[in-house]
Amino acid sequence: MSNRDESFLRKRAEEYGQSQLFDFWPQLNTAQQQELLHHLAQVNFPEMARLIHSLVLEDPPVEYFQTMNPVALVKGDDSRRVEAMEAGESLLREGKVACFTVAGGQGTRLGFDGPKGSYPIGPITGHSLFQYHAEKIRGLQRYYNTTLPWYIMVSAANGEATRIFFEDNNCFSLDPENILFFEQRMVPSVTAEGKIILETPSRLAMSPGGHGGCVQALVDGGAIADAKKRGIEILSYFQVDNWAIKVADPRFIGHHYLNQAEMSSKCHRRNGPREAVGVHCLCDGAYRVIEYSELDIYPQLLQVDEEGFAVFAAGNSGIHLLNTDFVQRVYEHFDEFPWHKAFKKIPTVNQEGQTILPQAPNGYKFETFIFDALRFAKNPVALEIQRLGEYTPIKDYDGVNSVVAARKSMTEYWGGWAKAAGLVLSEAADETERYSLEISPAWAVNEEEFIERAASLSSDFHPDSAILADGRIVTARGEDACQSD
Ligand code: UTP
Repeated sequence: MSNRDESFLRKRAEEYGQSQLFDFWPQLNTAQQQELLHHLAQVNFPEMARLIHSLVLEDPPVEYFQTMNPVALVKGDDSRRVEAMEAGESLLREGKVACFTVAGGQGTRLGFDGPKGSYPIGPITGHSLFQYHAEKIRGLQRYYNTTLPWYIMVSAANGEATRIFFEDNNCFSLDPENILFFEQRMVPSVTAEGKIILETPSRLAMSPGGHGGCVQALVDGGAIADAKKRGIEILSYFQVDNWAIKVADPRFIGHHYLNQAEMSSKCHRRNGPREAVGVHCLCDGAYRVIEYSELDIYPQLLQVDEEGFAVFAAGNSGIHLLNTDFVQRVYEHFDEFPWHKAFKKIPTVNQEGQTILPQAPNGYKFETFIFDALRFAKNPVALEIQRLGEYTPIKDYDGVNSVVAARKSMTEYWGGWAKAAGLVLSEAADETERYSLEISPAWAVNEEEFIERAASLSSDFHPDSAILADGRIVTARGEDACQSD
């Protein structure tokens, strides 16, 4: 009997207390019945039962630690700074590094109609997040005379739209041979009673299973095999919504390499003990990242020093380096990854079989997180970063971690480059609320290169200008793509 057979799947659903999935079966036409069976065949029922019992029907077990200590942050003025830079630059030149973007999320908070990476973030050019990341890669390829393959994890929620966006934009002038998309797994959502939710009578409510799913997807989707064939040893991991990301940063790569680390992180100092970011720490000597939702379970993490700064300073920026060998090794441990639940508004069918979007959260989504791989890694480095020019996570349109905040931050960052190059901005650089700047990372990969090239600018570079990849300056202000309500 095939595992796509109705009787087999019906029995399996019943066995796991999910017979409601067949509630609409008699009303479905043949194509819809096939669709439902297709989705059901992909459900890992034993895994779902484990998640439902351990996270939904019971409170997840709390881990207690005898000792919790802050991780040692490698600082910007570290004595091995120069050595690290040289090591990282050599690895880039030798073609040992690739970029890896996780872009499988649904971007629900931003409320933008399209993959988050296609959001037109450039306030003047309207260039998308993907274009910016691509131009960073182009810049580094030129600067180091190398090739940086780009692995991009998408999901069933946005994979097709993302591929089309790249095709429509001619892969942002990157060689398509060096770009590989692959999909992460989707996981069913469940009610508070642990019942898998139907989004339509013939389709389950599924969501991407968190950025931790990249461990499986990198291997199953062929990225690790491709990377190994190309001689890639290190993946520069970043999240699609961090506009400021310094992709494949040589200094970071160098520290990682010199420390013989398997996985490393960039961390920003938490701006207070309750900042909504994960905290990197050592728990009974083992490297862990504690989620901000668990801060009250571990009151040690709320300690502040005499000046009011968080003692556990290392905030998670979602910027990592992963060795390809390590991904392969940790793949074998994926079933030891903790799962996390999130209570969300999940589209669901009413008794008549119509899809409704609830006004309030009605069910749980399940996710794993990439930072949980750190517990398996040897010698992880935590490199301290300033947020400016490195970290602008875009979650909402306005407010903290938003489009508006990211544009302000990048204008301040590039304004600093312009000043350092001796360009006179007619408005003071601290008035970044009032104007915008953009500098293509394909034109200048860092401040040093910007200063060198600024002398050749063909016309004035003034507030509300953007320098494009070819050095042209444009001044038109783009339309905002969305103002979230
Ligand atoms: P977030 O957890 O912030 O989710 O993802 P999101 O999809 O961007 O936004 P919300 O929470 O729905 O509003 C951080 C990064 O991890 C990726 C996202 O694409 C983003 O780059 N991610 C998240 C995945 O690749 N897969 C997932 O299942 C979840």
